[in-house]
Amino acid sequence: MDKEKRKQLFQQAKAWVLAAGEMIRKQINEPLEINIKSNPNDLVTSMDKAIEKFFVTNIKEYYPDHAILGEEGYGDELTSLSGTVWIIDPIDGTTNFVHQKRNFAISIGIYEEGIGEIGLIYDVMKDDLYSAKSGEGAYKNEQRLSHHPVHIKEAILGLNHHWLCENRLVDEKVMQKLIKTIRGARSYGSAALELAFVAEGVTDGYLSMRLSPWDIAAGIILIQEVGGIISNLEGEPLNLLIKQPIVVSNSHIYQDIMEEFIKKGKK
Ligand code: IPD
Ligand code: CA
Ligand code: CA
Repeated sequence: MDKEKRKQLFQQAKAWVLAAGEMIRKQINEPLEINIKSNPNDLVTSMDKAIEKFFVTNIKEYYPDHAILGEEGYGDELTSLSGTVWIIDPIDGTTNFVHQKRNFAISIGIYEEGIGEIGLIYDVMKDDLYSAKSGEGAYKNEQRLSHHPVHIKEAILGLNHHWLCENRLVDEKVMQKLIKTIRGARSYGSAALELAFVAEGVTDGYLSMRLSPWDIAAGIILIQEVGGIISNLEGEPLNLLIKQPIVVSNSHIYQDIMEEFIKKGKK
């Protein structure tokens, strides 16, 4: 994608993300219709659907030749990432949205022929916009983000308790050893924000067992722009058409996490 096209698309996507955030904030105390998806802890609300519809309607009107992969299903059924594709999570962290009315984000990744061009992660209640354009750096609002060297013993990792349960992808004893090795673990309940925090350097990595394309599409671009590394458990690039486990971190600790913990503990 040429720079001018990327710039214009970024400005438009950013304007829609900010407008959607404003819609959510205005209605944050209004009653919600809450439904259950795959299990009783997998929630979707009338707001998730309304926000995705807002993006899909606008994208289809302004960019009719673009494709859309959206969590709530108002976009297209995609079997490839050819052309320009918007990958949308209208509310990432729906459980936080319902229970806490904060700690959730809008996440939009724009890809062209499978290459990440634009990433936007908007922490709606804090009004913090994390953004990245391919080759042009990552930002939190107007502040450019960059990574500094970190040692595994001083690292803070985003990690949920599922890794410590039995019969997981990586041996729970090895994950316990990882937790004892690092300085601390955190669990924010929004994969998109977890990735934005790794890009920002307020955490040094994030491991998740099963994420969908819309959870990670924007974050991948932010991470790449700060020189972080993101992969599946085999160390391979992520596939944005499937659900998969992810390992993401500051480049200085990625090999340690992979060699010492993930590979040794993989079941
Ligand atoms: C979820 C959140 C959560 C992650 C789940 C996702 P949703 O997304 O990102 O942190 O652990 O795997 O499904 O359902 O709130 O959009
Ligand atoms: Ca999500
Ligand atoms: Ca969602």
